[in-house]
Amino acid sequence: MSATPFDQRDGWIWYDGQLVPWKDAKLHVLSHGLHYASSVFEGERAYGGEIFKSTEHSERLRKSAEILDFEIPYSVAEIDAAKRLVIERNGQTNAYLRPVAWRGSDMMGVAAQANQIHLAIASWDWPSYFDPAEKMKGIRIDMAEYRRPDPATAPSAAKAAGLYMICTISKHRAERRGYADALMLDWQGRVAECTGANIFFIRDGAVHTPIADCFLDGITRRTVIDLAKRRGFEVQERRIMPEELPSFNECFITGTAAEVTPVSEVGPHIYKPGNMTRTLMEDYEAEVQPRKAVAA
Ligand SMILES: Cc1ncc(COP(=O)(O)O)c(C=O)c1O
Repeated sequence: MSATPFDQRDGWIWYDGQLVPWKDAKLHVLSHGLHYASSVFEGERAYGGEIFKSTEHSERLRKSAEILDFEIPYSVAEIDAAKRLVIERNGQTNAYLRPVAWRGSDMMGVAAQANQIHLAIASWDWPSYFDPAEKMKGIRIDMAEYRRPDPATAPSAAKAAGLYMICTISKHRAERRGYADALMLDWQGRVAECTGANIFFIRDGAVHTPIADCFLDGITRRTVIDLAKRRGFEVQERRIMPEELPSFNECFITGTAAEVTPVSEVGPHIYKPGNMTRTLMEDYEAEVQPRKAVAA
């Protein structure tokens, strides 16, 4: 990844309805979103010029805002169109997109009923690089100290910036300890998800993944569940306790950025990425290809 800081790049960012030069896409330090985490975002990818599941992401963005008690002043169709415009203007085919919505500066207190809602969409090159042999080595995952919060204490269904505070702390700790990521348990001590990806396990030909009712129900997670079912694999969405971790044979994580990434270790537990993980990894790779290319 390039070392150029993200505020120093070239290109265009869609900002409140207009494309502005990248370096001019600024906000004031007295923005509610910065002080009180009244901000929601998405992470999406375009493959071959087409944004994968764009509408699902736009719907989730609007839903996340609603959960945080604000309404994004653009429809799903308008957000979809704005995203297409950004990658087109930036001349990108394989890209990562970052829509972000936040409460502005009109009021600076906990209450911010009248604050203007802003929406920006940035995109940057993200080559779609796929080396199955390399990926099959698997990544090492640490156990996080923080847990996903009880839905009664945080808006856990939203992709809200505030929920990432504990993810960043957990990921930093994992990296310092030599791991690629960290597995977070939920507030009841059950297996939940990683800091930016969902988690799956395989045992005796069946796919197991935690029920996503107190953490993000990833769009990749849902896609992979569909792909597994299409393959005729048994899929069990259920409660998974950490005591079960040694009983699984394979493990992988899913997310827009991670796609399907095999895992070789979770804490003291060792996994050997095998055929089912490889199949789902390859099926996902095929699934994200642009429809027009597939149809051609
Ligand atoms: C905390 C968290 N969980 C799960 C995911 C996977 O979500 P998706 O597949 O929609 O990218 C992400 C990525 O956005 C995430 O940040």
